[in-house]
Amino acid sequence: MRGRIVGMGHFLPSRVVKNDELTAFMETSDEWIVQRTGIRERRWVEGDVGASELGEHAARQALAEAGLEPADIDLVIFATLSPDLNFPGSGCLLGARLGIPGVAALDIRNQCTGFLYGLATADAYVRSRLAKNVLVVGGEVHSTGLDMSTRGRDVSVLFGDGAGAAVVSLSQSESGLLDHELHADGRYAEILMVEAPASRLNPRLTPQMLEEGRHYPRMDGKAVFKHAVEKLPEVVHSVLRRNGLQLDDIALLVPHQANMRINELVARHLGLPPERVVHNIQKYGNTTAGSIPIALHEAVLEGRVKPGDLVLLAALGAGLTWGATLMRW
Ligand code: UT7
Repeated sequence: MRGRIVGMGHFLPSRVVKNDELTAFMETSDEWIVQRTGIRERRWVEGDVGASELGEHAARQALAEAGLEPADIDLVIFATLSPDLNFPGSGCLLGARLGIPGVAALDIRNQCTGFLYGLATADAYVRSRLAKNVLVVGGEVHSTGLDMSTRGRDVSVLFGDGAGAAVVSLSQSESGLLDHELHADGRYAEILMVEAPASRLNPRLTPQMLEEGRHYPRMDGKAVFKHAVEKLPEVVHSVLRRNGLQLDDIALLVPHQANMRINELVARHLGLPPERVVHNIQKYGNTTAGSIPIALHEAVLEGRVKPGDLVLLAALGAGLTWGATLMRW
């Protein structure tokens, strides 16, 4: 008995923002962004839209694909670094949106690895019979929280808004979630973070902090890049090894979409041909907790994943957090 994804959904806001549009706010260029990251455009919300609203669209699609109603869900897991509110969590808000009062909800704050932490948690809940049908959502609204001036260009050009969702149910079949390997190393917390407002600062936010842009994400891009190209192949090999598998057994690798150069390098290190690696960063940028479920669902809809295929998901991001999920589709 294991958890199995029985339905998926994804949602992107309709507003497309091409690289050239960003030059209205900051010194950058389409050429720089494409060369360094592979990103050509991303999606931004319009007006007051929180992560739970994007998540709701993805969740309703996942429920429909699963042939379930919201009332069938007995746990909501919401992975996001951009919750609607500092508290309560977006999982609670999503439960209200779906009309399932009283259903347990929790948020996961593990950034780009958030969806994988969510899948592992859902799998553990259904295997232990604490839940039957778990809704796992990864979703972000980045666009309202980025420094759109030249000061923040190294981060702001990378991120986009979007959400993906999966319903995980207990299954007796051979298909489903086979293994999870998750890691965190807080020694590197400060290479990618939003520093303020924060409980460790007193006061949590001052006009000076706002002026200095300390409420915007800050990143040591080269350090994150280096960790990603080292840790992602490592965790993929580790999951394969402990399941007695070879890379040749894997039909598709769905990596977190942070930078096409990272994923191309990882694929090269692993010796995976391009047709067995999913890329969609060119269309959406980095949607953080949304990126893996969006990419996986697109791959399924495009027929790149067939029943019985072994699929690997892998991610690294702020925390640092990283990990991999092995599943049979
Ligand atoms: O999912 C979260 C995890 N995040 C990541 O995985 C990100 C990992 N890191 C990266 O993807 C890359 O480090 C970046 C794409 C963020 C940056 O690429 P880079 O090759 O490391 O560039 P850099 O930061 O060393 O910057 C090179 C130059 C600098 O100018 P100088 O100092 O050489 O004159 C930057 O100021 O490029 C400049 N620059 C830009 N120029 C135009 C930085 N951002 C931009 C920009 N447009 N948006």
